[in-house]
Amino acid sequence: MKIEININNNIEIHEVEPRVTLLDFIRDNVGLKGTHAGCEHGVCGACTVLMNGEAVRSCLVLAVQSMGDKIITIEGVNSEDSESGLLNIIQDAFCEKHGLQCGYCTSGMILTAEALLKVNTSPTREEVREAISGNICRCTGYVQIVDSIMLAADRLSKRNTSPDKS
Ligand code: FES
Ligand code: FES
Repeated sequence: MKIEININNNIEIHEVEPRVTLLDFIRDNVGLKGTHAGCEHGVCGACTVLMNGEAVRSCLVLAVQSMGDKIITIEGVNSEDSESGLLNIIQDAFCEKHGLQCGYCTSGMILTAEALLKVNTSPTREEVREAISGNICRCTGYVQIVDSIMLAADRLSKRNTSPDKS
């Protein structure tokens, strides 16, 4: 069947089997490989994308179910829908705090962090841990990832603060 999905503000029209997942649609039909396939049954979080601003596991959603939704993948970081640079701030923080090693989990971690910081700009470390608890990282031990998200949160909370005039 022919389906249309808004991915990173582009309408993607492709012929797919009804059983194709959103993950496979993004990777194989659209050709965006930053959304990673890990467990492919909803456990690891490597396939996380934003669907209407919410972090979802694209391996658990059929592509046909996503028609009418707005999908943002890690490649959509610089799109107009990237919350005025929110994702860039998070990416910078991951680079600075060494929140990644192999990078396999990273796109999912960043999009999960984006979904958290959009609703909670001053999370505690515990809240960050809870938010990423469904995203598995085999490399970092998670400490640097939490550090990265805390740094991004700190920068976001100060983003609209007037410069000190003293
Ligand atoms: S690949 Fe989707 S949760 Fe693991
Ligand atoms: S950086 Fe390798 S799995 Fe997280």
